[in-house]
Amino acid sequence: MVENGAAPTPIREALAGKRILITGVTGFLGTALLERLLTDVPTAKLILLVRGRFGSPPEARVRELLGRPAFEAFRQANGPDAVDRALAERLEIVEGDVTGEPARFPGGIDIVFHCAASVSFDPPIDQAFQTNVLGAIGLYEAVLAAGSRPYIVHVSTAYVAGSTKGVVREAPLEHRVDWRREADAAMAARQAVEEASRKPELLDRFMEAAARRHRRAGPMAVARAAEERREEWVTKRLVQYGRARAQSLGWPDVYTFTKALGERAVEQLAIREKLPLAIVRPSIIESALERPSPGWIEGFKMAEPIILAYGRGAIPEFPAIPDGVMDVIPVDLVVNAMVAVAARPPEGEPEYYHVCSGSRNPLSFRLLYELVRGYFERHPLPERGRGEVRVPTWRFPGRRRVEARLRTGERLLDGVDRVATKLPRSPRIRDVIRRIDRERGRLEFVRRYADLYGAYTEIEVIYTDDRTLALYRSLSEQDQADYHFDAAVFDWAHYLQEVHCPAITVAMRFPSPARPDPTVRIRPRENGALAVFDMEGTLLDSNVVESYLWLRMAELTDEEWPFEMAQVARRLPSYLRAERRDRGEFLRSFYRRYEGAAEDGIRRLMDERVGELILRRLSAAAVRRIREHRAAGHRTVLVTGALDCFAAPLEPLFDEVEATRLAVLDGRYTGDLARPPLVGEARAAWLRVYAAEHGADLKRSYAYADSHSDLPLLRAVGNPVAVNPDVALYRVARKRRWPVEEWHKAKGTPRILLPERVP
Ligand SMILES: NC(=O)c1ccc[n+]([C@@H]2O[C@H](COP(=O)([O-])OP(=O)(O)OC[C@H]3O[C@@H](n4cnc5c(N)ncnc54)[C@H](OP(=O)(O)O)[C@@H]3O)[C@@H](O)[C@H]2O)c1
Repeated sequence: MVENGAAPTPIREALAGKRILITGVTGFLGTALLERLLTDVPTAKLILLVRGRFGSPPEARVRELLGRPAFEAFRQANGPDAVDRALAERLEIVEGDVTGEPARFPGGIDIVFHCAASVSFDPPIDQAFQTNVLGAIGLYEAVLAAGSRPYIVHVSTAYVAGSTKGVVREAPLEHRVDWRREADAAMAARQAVEEASRKPELLDRFMEAAARRHRRAGPMAVARAAEERREEWVTKRLVQYGRARAQSLGWPDVYTFTKALGERAVEQLAIREKLPLAIVRPSIIESALERPSPGWIEGFKMAEPIILAYGRGAIPEFPAIPDGVMDVIPVDLVVNAMVAVAARPPEGEPEYYHVCSGSRNPLSFRLLYELVRGYFERHPLPERGRGEVRVPTWRFPGRRRVEARLRTGERLLDGVDRVATKLPRSPRIRDVIRRIDRERGRLEFVRRYADLYGAYTEIEVIYTDDRTLALYRSLSEQDQADYHFDAAVFDWAHYLQEVHCPAITVAMRFPSPARPDPTVRIRPRENGALAVFDMEGTLLDSNVVESYLWLRMAELTDEEWPFEMAQVARRLPSYLRAERRDRGEFLRSFYRRYEGAAEDGIRRLMDERVGELILRRLSAAAVRRIREHRAAGHRTVLVTGALDCFAAPLEPLFDEVEATRLAVLDGRYTGDLARPPLVGEARAAWLRVYAAEHGADLKRSYAYADSHSDLPLLRAVGNPVAVNPDVALYRVARKRRWPVEEWHKAKGTPRILLPERVP
């Protein structure tokens, strides 16, 4: 209660000896609250609900947390064994996930600070309900079941008011939404969406889309990609369900929707169980003004990604209303208010506290922009190797115009991308692709943040904080000094330019040296490494069509070869189409051209004329690399879809050559393949069997290839290398940080080499 005639009990005294449960201590707000209580109320016992994550059990997580900068003052004040003593004497860790089995709490809990939440704006609807509504209720019920009758300090958000305009007061939300019904529907949504995702029409669509990108790598790659697409579709759909349902009821997103229903559920529980309840609603929480240290922040929160991207010059414009209020509050003011609220349990109805700046210390989006811009003009970020970044000037042309510019930019990029993907591969094209990808990343960033923050940056609402202010004014002078949370008295220029921006940009001022491009490191043999090479496009600048022409040219007379050339040229587009669709299918259809040719004739031509052409086409860098592997004791393997007679000249370089063989009948090629061609997944499968038979270790092995269809082969080894990659493989290699090498074709070789013609 705030209106209290008698002198208020000092905060530390009111909390002394209490058993206090805190959830969400591994998060931003929870960490700051834990630091405050651990430091200020030494006689309080703190019970922490923590889940194990990423293989780290709860106690290890808390130990690691207490070692972070937020607790530096605490550690210094309490000596070298501060953390051990805190863990042994002050803290009790309860393992639990609010969405899982109810945790086993000890009894006698006096106060619950519930900070844990799903804070992403657009999670799938069921996940948001599970954490923010059902999770909150489950937590309080588990505490009650252990015999406690606590005072609940429930952390919500000012934005639960929804897509409203005007003044919002500290009071229960005005809505009649039945939280149980909504929660039931949200939980049922996953089942419905999962079922829908398995309908044949949709599965066909996923398969088609997956096949367009992965067909050349083989059917299993397509199936895997199709299933990934299905799962993505399910998640996206559940996000849509959340957004649409939230908006249809007047909330901008599923986060604020579920936080609002969480409030209602907790109010009902508190009234039913006659428990004291305070709901604390901060606005956008940002770095600390003073405690635990000026500028302290845990992870990047809401404004940082935009501020940093702006400082890097990456956002030319943003779709905010310049005179809209950006309601930001430093984290220590929120913690101080929460502690003060905890020290004064209400005696009757639940109480509501806005911890916000917008009403009495408004920060317009334009002021925010100007202060941030001023900061970066005085302290520009370094531009890697190129001086300093000059920040752009925003003119706030409005959401529609920014959206139109985004769309134009995206369309332009799509066009350039389509053209670049079809051009012959070269380092210059790869440079273009790099730039396209970077630009696309920027556009996606602006779009994502414009969508996500639209509701917050275009907001026209003021959250009043009369009750919070009254609580503050009711504190003793000492408590006011120690637990300051009057949002009107701090200065935005000081906070943004001297505290917040310096803190969040510190890491970018000492950028780690540019990450060197990944390179191949050839280690001597440990457990039998293989070095596997693709042939055409990788070792040689050639392809099956050209090899065929070599043979034909060697065999035909001057009068015959133009006709043959014309025939092949006529069919080239259909061969290329088939190759793009399915390399195996293309090889089968192309090798039909050999039907009827005499096997020994071809071999003779190879020995006498074409073999030399192949060796002249071999890249010098490839030969050097093969030799390096041999010197390191690796087994060298050539795997190719080319015919065995074309691979034969390279045999001396390899321990194993696996090439395509044509069926022979009565000394002549039938045009059929003797075995399916080793392309896409078939290559990876062959390699696994080969490695097992030769006791080779694929993790330590190397593979070199040039085409996206070789992805399964490259993925099968520990050291994949993209050589002269096509655009699709280049993108994968960059994403996975595989080395990319340019093995230029042998010097002085013309685009098409022809053997001397038969006179
Ligand atoms: N940040 C803001 O700008 C802001 C503004 C207004 C209100 N709030 C409210 O303030 C509270 C804290 O936000 P924050 O910014 O500190 O978030 P945060 O940094 O993302 O931390 C979330 C915390 O909740 C825990 N948590 C999430 N799901 C859980 C689960 N299923 N079971 C157990 N613990 C779970 C997380 O634990 P793990 O480490 O195990 O994931 C983490 O400790 C939330 O209630 C939020 O709605 C935040």
